[in-house]
Amino acid sequence: MKQNGKLEKAKLLFEKNIEIFRCPVCKDNMKINDKSSLICNNNHCFDISKKGYVNLANRSSNKIYGKDLFESRNKIYNANFYDRLITELVDIVDEYTLYKNKNYILDTGCGEGHYLNQLSKNQNLSNKYDFVGIDISKEGINIATREGNDIIWCVSDLSNLPFQTCKFAVILNILSPANYEEFIRVLDNKGIVIKVIPESEYLKEIRYGIQNKMKSNNYSNKNVIEVFHQHLEIVSEKRLNYKCSIDKSNLKDLIKMTPLTSSLSKEQKDDLIKLDISSITIDLRILVGRCKK
Ligand SMILES: C[S@@+](CC[C@H](N)C(=O)[O-])C[C@H]1O[C@@H](n2cnc3c(N)ncnc32)[C@H](O)[C@@H]1O
Ligand SMILES: [Zn+2]
Repeated sequence: MKQNGKLEKAKLLFEKNIEIFRCPVCKDNMKINDKSSLICNNNHCFDISKKGYVNLANRSSNKIYGKDLFESRNKIYNANFYDRLITELVDIVDEYTLYKNKNYILDTGCGEGHYLNQLSKNQNLSNKYDFVGIDISKEGINIATREGNDIIWCVSDLSNLPFQTCKFAVILNILSPANYEEFIRVLDNKGIVIKVIPESEYLKEIRYGIQNKMKSNNYSNKNVIEVFHQHLEIVSEKRLNYKCSIDKSNLKDLIKMTPLTSSLSKEQKDDLIKLDISSITIDLRILVGRCKK
């Protein structure tokens, strides 16, 4: 789609859903002006970009998450290694939400947008939900807009969400940091938070490969689970563990896509690619929670 077309389409989408937004600076309501910007009553103004997203962040992203990492994530996701997680997400939304009117799914720390782009293609979900993705990284959101789906994309900090309270039926938080005060604020009373975190065998072939190149290689998700339990009432918890075969080209992207290897030099990453790795383990825990009564 031409960039002008993308901007016009995004403007309509933001206009239609403007009531979910609030200004990230002064918390006031927002509207769209003639120049395709979101603007609040105190004149804090945020332009919709030609790519079709709006930047509402007041700080920039961590340099670990650069364009190359997101391009590699995009390739790995499109090679279907994580399709079983998408199926699980669809089933969970189906099972744990009962909304009569159209509602919203928000992906917090959505990266290059794969999960929302896939969920938005599920007709059952798209009949019931509109989709909103936010990430602090402009590079991630840039890629997320590429498919041109009807999704509201924002560069935004998940610890200062630019949304009104109680607006979302589902909050996704996949392999990303969380801010439960903000999640609970914007979550509808009957809504759910779905958090996906690594389990002990997640990408273990890469972990073993870098064992002697890193200071510490022990991973425990105990604290992350405890913090989730402190803030939300658990409604479901599931471990998803499977192996996929992988060729050298995908292995190269897998090594580039994970923050696990972010402290390694290029030579160390090249050494990893040369290892005899022909399959990888996906091992994730899916936590589903609701607001405590
Ligand atoms: C490992 S990536 C996961 C991305 C995506 N959910 C996925 O599974 O592919 C972690 C993401 O969290 C984002 N992130 C980190 N801190 C954030 C913040 N304060 N607000 C919004 N996004 C943040 C990063 O930019 C990055 O895209
Ligand atoms: Zn404002």
